[in-house]
Amino acid sequence: MSGKNIWTHKGTFLLAAVGSAVGLGNLWRFPYLTGENGGGAFILVYALTIAVVGIPILIAETLLGRSSRRSPIMGMKYLTESHGTSSAWQVIGWMGAGAAFVILSFYSVIAGWAIHYTGLLFSGALAGADAETIGASFGALLASPERLLLYHTLFIGASGLIVAMGIHRGIEGGLRIMMPALFVILMIVLVYGVVVGDAAAAMRFLFTFNLNDLSLEGWLQAMGQSFFTLSLGMGAIMAYGAYMSSEASLTRTAVSIAVVDTLIALMAGVAIFSLVFGSGMEAGQGPGLMFVTLPIAFADLPGGSILGGVFFILVIGAALTSAISLVEPVAAWLLERFDLSRPVAVAIMVGGCWALGLLTVFSFNVWSEGTITHQWFGRSPFDVLEFITNILMPLGGLLIALFAGWALTREDVIRQMATNDRWFSAWQFLVRFVAPTAVAFVFLRTIPQVEG
Ligand code: PHE
Ligand code: NA
Repeated sequence: MSGKNIWTHKGTFLLAAVGSAVGLGNLWRFPYLTGENGGGAFILVYALTIAVVGIPILIAETLLGRSSRRSPIMGMKYLTESHGTSSAWQVIGWMGAGAAFVILSFYSVIAGWAIHYTGLLFSGALAGADAETIGASFGALLASPERLLLYHTLFIGASGLIVAMGIHRGIEGGLRIMMPALFVILMIVLVYGVVVGDAAAAMRFLFTFNLNDLSLEGWLQAMGQSFFTLSLGMGAIMAYGAYMSSEASLTRTAVSIAVVDTLIALMAGVAIFSLVFGSGMEAGQGPGLMFVTLPIAFADLPGGSILGGVFFILVIGAALTSAISLVEPVAAWLLERFDLSRPVAVAIMVGGCWALGLLTVFSFNVWSEGTITHQWFGRSPFDVLEFITNILMPLGGLLIALFAGWALTREDVIRQMATNDRWFSAWQFLVRFVAPTAVAFVFLRTIPQVEG
């Protein structure tokens, strides 16, 4: 790999990784999981996992990318061969690329809902509508395969277009415009939420905790969320790491990514819960929090149609910068392995993902609960895809930690990390023992679900 496959600036990896990290995980999943799990205690466990498990694995995954300077699949092949370690570790690359493929297929469908809501809010169609009407309109969206398909196609097409334009003109160029804009929009939404909503109640909910409130299930969800939110174990960070400047500090970059991602999740939480509590609604609404509860709040607030529309633009943009990081690992592999041009490689990846996305699209209507297909298999295809993700993500993280902690030599890692012995030892202890234990714990949670 030559110098043209390196980001233009020393800081671009940080920008790209933050773009990958900040997405539906922060704006949609984090608030609803926090709401379902009672607030502060969930956040405490989540933050702790980010610090002792997320950051060390983030460093490890970036390190694998930067020291191989190849796509995750080719990179793991190169690393195992050059270190003379077992080729079994190459499964890390395959699993990561596979997980990216699966996740993008449904991430795109959900991001598509935000396209629908942007239009719905800006048009004023929801202004003054009651809760029942708004709930019904979400139901109507899900019931329409044509609409879901249209939005899914638009969203995944846009992601593909950016990646097809190359890592410099497409990905870097896109991020340099989108990221600052998204930050500004988030600030606007936050200020609006605090001014018109009940910020005091939101702060109380998010920042006071009683650990007894948190169930075992809640603990495990908090840990799972910390992987999802940092984009770990899916080849995204490894693929971006391959283009990272050799001069940038791994540790400092990883800590910055985790801090920014967490701050953004908290800001989104404050904004959303201020609005939700301000309108006298409950926190524990589940996945419908952003698509039903929040629109209900916007519907009866001053300026709610405009601000709501602006909020959903934020959701689309944040999801887009994450989606492109899911396209890259697979596209880069196709490009390297089969010597394809970038646009062709991207078209194959995105086309395949689009087709797999049909399973999710139909899960909410023709194959939903109560239909024959659902009765046959006991769960919708979307549930199955989510289940696969819940296995692949922690498993990928676990293997990355073990590989970086045990299979790489001390010299390799120290050279890449450019750090002193004390930090190195702390990191090594975390990836060797703490992270694997924690991940195994999260992983075990999914086993009982097999029967479920
Ligand atoms: N981290 C992203 C989010 O929080 C999701 C994601 C996962 C993106 C894995 C890329 C890879 O929404
Ligand atoms: Na995130």
